[in-house]
Amino acid sequence: MFDAVGFGALNLDKIFMVDKIPKKDEEGFVRKIELHPGGSSANTIVGLSKLGMRTSFIGKTGNDGDGRVLIEDFRRQGVDTSFIIMGDGRSGNAMIFVDDEGNRAILVDPGVNDTIEFNEINPEVFEKAKLIHLTSFICKNGIQSFESQKMAVEIAKEKGIYITFDPGLIYIERGLKELETMIRGTTIFLPNRKELELLMNMDYVDASRELISMGCKIVAVKMGAEGCYVTNGKEEVTVKPFTVEVVDTTGAGDAFNAGFIYGFLKGYSLGKCGRIGNFVASRNIQKVGARAGLPSKDEFADAGIE
Ligand SMILES: Nc1ncnc2c1ncn2[C@@H]1O[C@H](COP(=O)(O)OP(=O)(O)OP(=O)(O)O)[C@@H](O)[C@H]1O
Ligand SMILES: [Mg+2]
Repeated sequence: MFDAVGFGALNLDKIFMVDKIPKKDEEGFVRKIELHPGGSSANTIVGLSKLGMRTSFIGKTGNDGDGRVLIEDFRRQGVDTSFIIMGDGRSGNAMIFVDDEGNRAILVDPGVNDTIEFNEINPEVFEKAKLIHLTSFICKNGIQSFESQKMAVEIAKEKGIYITFDPGLIYIERGLKELETMIRGTTIFLPNRKELELLMNMDYVDASRELISMGCKIVAVKMGAEGCYVTNGKEEVTVKPFTVEVVDTTGAGDAFNAGFIYGFLKGYSLGKCGRIGNFVASRNIQKVGARAGLPSKDEFADAGIE
């Protein structure tokens, strides 16, 4: 059995430190390259694995060097990789160019991420997963992956698998009509405040109530420096964040999700889940990188949050 299985894009971020970001017809030089495995759902699953949860992942890589880096990295982090599909084509990656002044230019290649067909997914995963965590696919090369997530939600409903869903801006921009069936089958919806208000065209408190009335069980809204707001329709709680020195908020939302889902799987109260989410995010934002600072099981125990 797996406590949590991620289902989303797998990307290898390649950070190129360059002398300059070239314009048309110009040339620049690469000083250093850093490789960082990423993808929102993948980040959250790594966070859960570090906290001692049994984890796996539904996703697709190309049969290439980047794909092997992504899979090897999951293994090192204790994430099962038996449900990852290796297909023909390129693995998803983002090329991030950073010059000496810190200016950035980014090129994203969704690669085979967008091509997952539902029938490529080994159905055994639906016998083994307690919870499936969904995040967005870019859908530049087709919407098969989005459609397969919708089908996964239907199966999860039949089998009593919990669905947690962080739509990110990419899915929010698809609009409520397209997300409606997924939201109805969602156990925990995990947007940030801006995304939620954009999706529902109302303030986050009313929007959360509306989502609960649509069938979603819990809405946990990430509120940046204000912490989080969580409701299940009966209780509504705002949980203050931890006061820390913020260095880099990349991946803060993914780290929050890991903490919140951990609390949920342990059967904790809404307020406690929100507090653990805030805590895991607070550790992440004190370091540079989407997966930096995520606490191990022992560090978490030592912090006395539980
Ligand atoms: N300045 C801050 N101080 C303390 N905690 C913070 C701060 N900013 C963010 N956090 C924590 O990180 C969580 C997630 O941040 P945020 O609300 O920015 O999510 P997000 O917009 O989904 O992030 P992401 O850009 O990673 O998708 C917050 O709920 C909070 O717990
Ligand atoms: Mg987010």
